[in-house]
Amino acid sequence: MRVLAIETSCDETSASVVEMVEDRFDVLSLVVRSQVVHEEFGGIVPELAARAHVEVIYDVVRKSLEDAGVRPESLDLVAATKGPGLAASLIVGVQFAKTVALAVGRPFVGVNHLIGHVYSAYLTDPDLRPPFLTLIVSGGHTELVWVEDWYSFRLLGHTLDDAAGEAFDKGGRTLGLGYPAGPKIDRLAREGNREFHRFPKPKIKRRGYYFSFSGLKTALLHYVRQKGEDFVKENLHHIAASYQEAIVSHLLEVVERAVRELDPPRLAVVGGVALNSRLREIFTERFGDRVLFSDPKYCTDNAAMIGAAGLKKYELFGEDGQGVGVYPYLGVVEP
Ligand code: KG4
Ligand code: ZN
Repeated sequence: MRVLAIETSCDETSASVVEMVEDRFDVLSLVVRSQVVHEEFGGIVPELAARAHVEVIYDVVRKSLEDAGVRPESLDLVAATKGPGLAASLIVGVQFAKTVALAVGRPFVGVNHLIGHVYSAYLTDPDLRPPFLTLIVSGGHTELVWVEDWYSFRLLGHTLDDAAGEAFDKGGRTLGLGYPAGPKIDRLAREGNREFHRFPKPKIKRRGYYFSFSGLKTALLHYVRQKGEDFVKENLHHIAASYQEAIVSHLLEVVERAVRELDPPRLAVVGGVALNSRLREIFTERFGDRVLFSDPKYCTDNAAMIGAAGLKKYELFGEDGQGVGVYPYLGVVEP
């Protein structure tokens, strides 16, 4: 089974050709074009994102087929991210994928972006099998998911406000770092003292595995205002290190409790924030070989993970057909 997959849920236009042989995935090509138009706005502008997808999608798809050495006629399936994400951006990918499917007379499936992130773990470790625990940490989501089976998921907890990536991005804006700030904070923090300032620990009343980051973001804002511009500039790497430490410690604390209580055979950490070097360090210290981080090329949004999830979905449930739409607010467990 061979799929052409398209991902356009946010600010990456991506296409990939993936093959599945007996529950193993082989990525034949992966093209990712990141949009730069948003940098000057400090966040993603939905209309600009959709327009940028339209401009490059044909080239991105053509290149993915060329790189894989595959002609459209030899595809078995076409897949695209159907949600969650920005509505106008999702429409570009889904419409394009449906059109390719129609043109070559192949089935189409719409793929849940969050399930795609879970599948990045299978791309990283071909021997991984359910059940396992997954922490999805991205710009838009922070979710703790129990993977019961290939396509059966239980949402154990999620953020009650901002996502972990959002905490990096919004904190970065406060520090004048530009978007996306996660990689920049990560880099600055390597030279900084993480005990320079102790940010307050998030307090969560709700029982379960929940996260909260908006208090941290506000604490940083107050701290920066109180200390003034010169102080912040002078101590930027220390502040970045302390702020990053607060984010990753909170993630660790909640996940550690889940691991203790549920004793999963493996713990997968996926999504853009799984690239964070301090997160990798403390999770490895705590969980050793049990933890599996997505390969860096599959952490941030990419179509290979969508292709893998699409292949499995098609195998288990068949095609969606041309009637499927886009679902901007989809959760990992679909209604
Ligand atoms: O998974 P992703 O590409 O997009 C979403 O589905 O949201 O994640 C992007 C997020 C951004 O918030 C970005 O700041 C964050 O991942 N990120 C990082 C690092 N690299 C990317 N956060 C912390 N440390 C990093 N090294
Ligand atoms: Zn994502």
